[in-house]
Amino acid sequence: MATTGNIVIAIDGPAGAGKSTIAKAVAKKLGFLYIDTGALYRALTVKVQRNNVKLQDTPAIISLARQTDIQLHYNHDTLIVLLNNEDVSEAIRLPVVTEAVSDIAKIKEVREVMNTLQQKLAQNNNSVLEGRDIGTVVFPNARYKFFLDASLNERTQRRFKEFKQKDIAVNTTDVYNDLSNRDHIDSTRDVAPLKKADDAIYIDTTNLSIQQVTEEVLRWIKK
Ligand code: DC
Repeated sequence: MATTGNIVIAIDGPAGAGKSTIAKAVAKKLGFLYIDTGALYRALTVKVQRNNVKLQDTPAIISLARQTDIQLHYNHDTLIVLLNNEDVSEAIRLPVVTEAVSDIAKIKEVREVMNTLQQKLAQNNNSVLEGRDIGTVVFPNARYKFFLDASLNERTQRRFKEFKQKDIAVNTTDVYNDLSNRDHIDSTRDVAPLKKADDAIYIDTTNLSIQQVTEEVLRWIKK
């Protein structure tokens, strides 16, 4: 387990609980690096799909994971995801990627590659990492740990709005089914399942605004 002298803030939780928005806001406020770990799994998923590798072909996926170069860059506040130097920031958010990513993220060897990458990314900076297993597996010694949650209905509405803003055609039933399917795969997988670390602070964001959650997180950090 790699350790870092820098401060790590871990924000875990299911899809649509507000992790990205809050992690970004907290990182900005504190001048920390924001690391979206889901983007790494999504970039690998793009690679797998472009190579026409089937989700059942675990050895081929592991091999791709080991040879793929994924980098995170920042253009002011915008996260740029590079897959072998190509900007895939938009491609990684497409529904076809979202549908497949959890099946790729459940592979043990893929997670090992991603864990090393995440630890390297946080090596030289104070960082806010958001994901599913940051506080439990990737940085079990993180200085601060949060677990953000929200009802499935609320998360569906949030994701639906995001898709609409980006002009991606989806209906609420598909979004609901995708979220509940991913919740199931992410929280029942054998390796590093989605779960709250014992020492993480649990925040139910269902009825809270972005500002309220950000303030709540910052309050804990200042304590
Ligand atoms: O946060 P997101 O929706 O972009 O994450 C995409 C998928 O990646 C998610 O369904 C599960 C997986 N993931 C993971 O297993 N571990 C992480 N630390 C981050 C994401």
